[in-house]
Amino acid sequence: MVDKLFKEADLGDEELKRLIKTAELDQELFCRADEVRRRNYGTDVYIRGLIELTNYCKNDCYYCGIRRSNRQADRYRLTKEQILSCCEQGYRLGFRTFVLQGGEDGYYTDERMCDIVSEIRCRYPDCAITLSLGERSRESYQRLYDAGADRYLLRHETADEEHYRRLHPESMSLIERKRCLWNLKEIGYQVGAGFMVGSPGQTTENLIEDLRFLQELRPAMIGIGPFIPHKDTPFRKETGGTLELTLRMVAILRLMFPCALIPATTALGTIHPQGRELGLKAGANVVMPNLSPENVRKLYELYDNKICTGEEAAECRSCLENRVRTAGYQIVTARGDVAGFAGKS
Ligand code: 5AD
Ligand code: FES
Repeated sequence: MVDKLFKEADLGDEELKRLIKTAELDQELFCRADEVRRRNYGTDVYIRGLIELTNYCKNDCYYCGIRRSNRQADRYRLTKEQILSCCEQGYRLGFRTFVLQGGEDGYYTDERMCDIVSEIRCRYPDCAITLSLGERSRESYQRLYDAGADRYLLRHETADEEHYRRLHPESMSLIERKRCLWNLKEIGYQVGAGFMVGSPGQTTENLIEDLRFLQELRPAMIGIGPFIPHKDTPFRKETGGTLELTLRMVAILRLMFPCALIPATTALGTIHPQGRELGLKAGANVVMPNLSPENVRKLYELYDNKICTGEEAAECRSCLENRVRTAGYQIVTARGDVAGFAGKS
């Protein structure tokens, strides 16, 4: 059935709707997705070392635990030295991609950020540098790219205007978010977009819009994970996204974007003990263990009960190694660029 649905290069909205809503098609869907993933990436799983720079954020997204209005959040920033020492430890553990992620924190000006990026670039010429610092000006993105960044993760969160307004305060706009993504792409970054599954007010139509937007953008990476309520946000009482729907969306993404880099996210691992393993089996091919210093791990709390906040980087690394192996895949120590990537000019 899934086979038939995917015969045509492009699925119509009705077919997508059917796949999104029908649990009976899951096994076949995951199986097909795994086939496509193996054809393009074998059983390789890429690892990215996640360094959470700062939990200060000027934004106030209703779903996010580090939103500006959350007075309960204990705020921190990493220094350049701390960041470099995370990279050093990460490199020893076999990481060849560093992801510098943080809230939108004015402290990390272009000057400070470029200094950090160029130092990492200089010390680790064989590593990819991924940034995930939210919305910045085109000039800023360009400067960071010139300083040595290769990739940028910026989830669009939802491609529907009305739904975007349900998740964000007035000061934020989907148009601006999309503009950032197109700017990043034009500059030459390998771009990652994505959305939460099961966020408040999300409809099947919204999910289809997300897929259509991704088809337009053609990102190298697509990150999705279940929405998980955080106790100190306006969405504290909302229902979280489910494992089933998230896995289904991972599989659909794999079929629609055969070469995309799709992580089995920490959020997925948070809602189910084998969430990430199941994500891999449904078509994901990236995992992003935490490299942040232990004393700040618990503070970067976007949602409740986030996993891997008590472990050291090395523990996380070997834990994931086992998990990936048990799922039938293996971690590889490569930069893990998107298939067909010709190198940064
Ligand atoms: N549940 C799940 N994911 C969340 N994110 C932020 N808050 C939550 C939450 N409560 C995701 C957003 C953001 C990424 C860094 O984390 O999609 O882009
Ligand atoms: Fe972090 Fe298992 S992956 S402890």
